[in-house]
Amino acid sequence: MSDDLFQTAFGEFHLQPLHHHPRSPLQAWNAADDLLLQELANRGYATDTHPRTLLVNDGAGALGIALHNAQPQSWNDSFSAHLALQKNLQRNALPEDCVHFIPAHQSPDAIYDCVLIQLPKTLSLLEHQLTQLRNHVHENTLIIGGGMVKHMAKSMIELFEKIIGPTHTSLAEKKARLVFAQFNPALPATAPAPVHYAIPGSPLQLVNLANVFSRQQLDIGTRFLLEQLPDLKGARSILDLGCGNGALGIYAGWKNPQATLHFTDDSFLAVQSARESLALNRLENPAHFHCGDGLEQFDGKVDAILCNPPFHEGNKVHTEIAARMFRDAARHLNPEGTFYVVANRHLDYLPQLRTRFHHCQLIASNAKFVILGASKPGSG
Ligand SMILES: C[S@@+](CC[C@H](N)C(=O)[O-])C[C@H]1O[C@@H](n2cnc3c(N)ncnc32)[C@H](O)[C@@H]1O
Repeated sequence: MSDDLFQTAFGEFHLQPLHHHPRSPLQAWNAADDLLLQELANRGYATDTHPRTLLVNDGAGALGIALHNAQPQSWNDSFSAHLALQKNLQRNALPEDCVHFIPAHQSPDAIYDCVLIQLPKTLSLLEHQLTQLRNHVHENTLIIGGGMVKHMAKSMIELFEKIIGPTHTSLAEKKARLVFAQFNPALPATAPAPVHYAIPGSPLQLVNLANVFSRQQLDIGTRFLLEQLPDLKGARSILDLGCGNGALGIYAGWKNPQATLHFTDDSFLAVQSARESLALNRLENPAHFHCGDGLEQFDGKVDAILCNPPFHEGNKVHTEIAARMFRDAARHLNPEGTFYVVANRHLDYLPQLRTRFHHCQLIASNAKFVILGASKPGSG
């Protein structure tokens, strides 16, 4: 049996994660997807009766593709997830519009009979999603969450209780578990307020929506890069790669009012945070906002790129994202431009940068972080 064959009660499908290669044998689905679909089948869910179905955080489209006959909607905070869904639809010769994608900074637009939620990594995203969901369900909506036991915190179940209504969980099976919630319209529903915080040493304020990196205060790595940021007076364009709430680009824009700013992130809520942060500070720099996987969807070249790449200790996926960002930065940097990276010092990114840039140097370091500068992009 091929290892990309996803067998479900609703059919068999070939699925791959977005960045599939033999050294990264990540599957495009997990045991929680299996349990969610099995649960629907056991309850007699029939795709041909078109139950209005919303799928939340469907990573690479496994749920959407299995349930495509019901024409589900898929609500997600990841551009890469949208790309993975589109590629997997093509892989299975399914029409692109049989699953309708809704980016997380927009609200779903219907009342649903069935909502399946892959539990997200951050509590703030779950809280945001459950609060919004209250306007899109009725008392008989089937609401089922699913997740791997090791990532399912008690606080997640408590959020379902608090925001949706009475909740219970299934027994664990294949290291995954389901969460069943019954909507109680009488519960008070208050949307979580966006978090605001300052960039120390400046008059600048940032807006952090749900799911955005460094929730309560400026990340110490980001802060170190801002403190050490060289003069960018010659830069006509500055790009904040993996912008989160836009801290790096907004600070650089404040220091360099001549520069056009570009903000890019895989998270729709991050790009929306950057947009709101820029507006809050009334900076007059021309600015462009892009959701994308690295710079794959970005056109053009810029004079400076600032980046605090995603990483998670011991997590191979994240250092691969950083490696792709270095490749993309080299492709989109002007020949005289510079790419600035802040990273935990143990990550040792210099050798990787040297495969993409002819000139790489250590600009600053402290006990925890290094700031690297890379220029003269090569073709490698
Ligand atoms: C360490 S955070 C830095 C955020 C912000 N620049 C800061 O310094 O506060 C890394 C950011 O990269 C984004 N990211 C992760 N994978 C990405 C991808 N494939 N393409 C673009 N951005 C990505 C995350 O959403 C996150 O906002």
